[in-house]
Amino acid sequence: MHIRRQLTVASPLTAAQIMGAARDAIAGRDLRASVRASLAGIFEAENVLLTDSGTSALVLALQMFARPLAPIAMPAYACVDLIAAARRANVRVRFFDVDPQTLSPDMDSLQRVLEEGVSAVVVAHLYGFPADMPAVVKVAHDAGVPVIEDAAQHASATIAGRPAGSFGDVTVLSFGRGKGTTSGRGGALTRRRTSDAWRFRCTNGTTMLTRYGRAIDSRRELAARPPVDIRNPRLDPRAAPWRNRVP
Ligand SMILES: Cc1ncc(COP(=O)(O)O)c(C=O)c1O
Repeated sequence: MHIRRQLTVASPLTAAQIMGAARDAIAGRDLRASVRASLAGIFEAENVLLTDSGTSALVLALQMFARPLAPIAMPAYACVDLIAAARRANVRVRFFDVDPQTLSPDMDSLQRVLEEGVSAVVVAHLYGFPADMPAVVKVAHDAGVPVIEDAAQHASATIAGRPAGSFGDVTVLSFGRGKGTTSGRGGALTRRRTSDAWRFRCTNGTTMLTRYGRAIDSRRELAARPPVDIRNPRLDPRAAPWRNRVP
């Protein structure tokens, strides 16, 4: 019999972790609050919204930032889920180039797109190679445009000593197979302390997303099962061995 193994990017699961998670699931333990707290610590976030997938988190982010007539800027080379999310959120997309050497946005191309007018910029760290977030955030904010940092493939990368995923106004995380923080499935949307462009609040267990008075009632978090691998040491800020993987 051939047993197929899927390689993980940065957080392989041990049998003990899977067993522990199965025990928690069978016992019906609700660990979402502790997962949110851990993610907030690691990714320097004020709020963490758990979702059923990274794609869902990206859809929510796009819906929150989309302005009529202004497209969303996205890298021309990235994971197909970015476009899937754009289609689901029903937003138009304007592509910018990525530097083939670093996979970071080509800053001239990004600048041109910003000058044409966009609602938000999506930046994705690909294969664990961190994008130059300080540069991207600066040009985007100078243009008055928020940054959605897609850190699904963060793979524990750091940028100037800070974890990839802690720079954007909001960050998309995925806990799917093969991701930087693996749990089988699931995702999260986080918001930085520095951003007051939008906020979300939790009332009686129902997650409400609010921006400029427009509310989106999201029950995804209630519907989503707790992430399986809540024992992943990478979710513990004290145990997270962030390493600089910038080549
Ligand atoms: C860069 C990037 N963004 C978003 C996603 C979507 O994550 P999920 O599979 O949890 O929906 C992926 C998944 O492969 C990804 O690689």
